[in-house]
Amino acid sequence: MEPSAQKVDLLVTGIGELASALGSSPAGGAALGRVSRIEDAALAIEGAQIVGVGPEAEVRESFEAAETLDAAGKVVLPGLVDAHTHPVFAGTREDEFEMRLSGKTYVEIAAAGGGIASSVRGVRETSKEELTARLLVRLDRFLALGTTTVEAKTGYGLSLEDELKCLEVIRDAAAQHPVELVPTFLGAHDYPPEFKDRKPEYVDLLLEEMLPAVAESGLAEYADVFTESHVFGIEDSRRIMARASELGLRLRLHVDQLTPLGGAELAAELGADSADHLECISDEGIAALGEAGVVPVLCPLVPLFIGQEEEAPGRRIIDLGLAPAVATDFNPGSCYVQSLPEALSWAALRYGMSAAECLVSATLNAACSLQRGDRLGTLEVGKQADLVITDLPRLEHLSYELGRSPVQAVIKRGEVVYQRGGAA
Ligand code: NIG
Ligand code: FE
Repeated sequence: MEPSAQKVDLLVTGIGELASALGSSPAGGAALGRVSRIEDAALAIEGAQIVGVGPEAEVRESFEAAETLDAAGKVVLPGLVDAHTHPVFAGTREDEFEMRLSGKTYVEIAAAGGGIASSVRGVRETSKEELTARLLVRLDRFLALGTTTVEAKTGYGLSLEDELKCLEVIRDAAAQHPVELVPTFLGAHDYPPEFKDRKPEYVDLLLEEMLPAVAESGLAEYADVFTESHVFGIEDSRRIMARASELGLRLRLHVDQLTPLGGAELAAELGADSADHLECISDEGIAALGEAGVVPVLCPLVPLFIGQEEEAPGRRIIDLGLAPAVATDFNPGSCYVQSLPEALSWAALRYGMSAAECLVSATLNAACSLQRGDRLGTLEVGKQADLVITDLPRLEHLSYELGRSPVQAVIKRGEVVYQRGGAA
């Protein structure tokens, strides 16, 4: 140990391979696969920040710490960022899963009173405390799967009172749990049952009462809309999102998932931070997102889960130079899966993404889609110390190994918050 070594809180040593994107802006096209890979590395953490990273011998020369965590020669990655989830709900919807297996479609199930409406019933009859308790269990699972930041949508309340309840649930859970939550108001997820025969009135309610009250509450960073032929069309989506933006909320949109409505073009026109799903996106839509710098958020597990033939043209989106994120879309209906590593394996298999491309899409690009690229998404000096110690021998195993969690330990804001087989 050098006499001049700086004292820090924690050293992560014995890192077989430290793999991370670099920088704080979205990486697209060829840059998506550019990952810094340092062998025999170590990382120094002071408070919540990374203060040193590099070959272990160099890091040990510059830093000393009371506490050391040994990565056992395995891969260390930035904390994963899930840029699209719907985690505030009460009941599950496994019967719909079974119905789809026997031939019913997602839209047919919704039209028969299932789908989102079924989760709305669950949320409305469940207390804030109970919803918070359920969300906390899900946050434990995210953490055990290496996800340290989660975009969390409402959208199963669909009244001002129930949507605010869900936003408070997100706030309360975040205050008690290391996983960082990014709250999104999705009041325009569907029409509530009481507005079934007077849909335009619900749009007016969103514009005149719900959006202003949500903005005023300060509980949401983002607003979202389900732009789809059976829910909110292009015109209504434009009005809702324009109003949200006017009120100071940032935008992300569910677009071109089941039908090609031109939602991607709308997301570009509105200057949204992300356009999500994109299974039916047009070439014009891809070009528009590229020009406007909107991050495409791909959810490769969803078509698999709902039996949809169309899949997002992930490879084409990358080859045209765009910078996608990959997310789970965790929700009780169209994707009851919390594992971002699993979503990455499917992105590899369905879109032909390399392990390096998968890593950048679920870290730096996802963080940028949430306006957090300056703080999260890479392992560099000055960034927040959010990292995952895996049991993977090399980065390529990230997408190669399906069906199990590769996570040994997780550090969030410089604290060891998860260790496999025991409390941190
Ligand atoms: O992202 N597309 C809209 N919303 C969700 C599904 C929600 C649900 O079925 O409960 C999604 O797939
Ligand atoms: Fe979604």
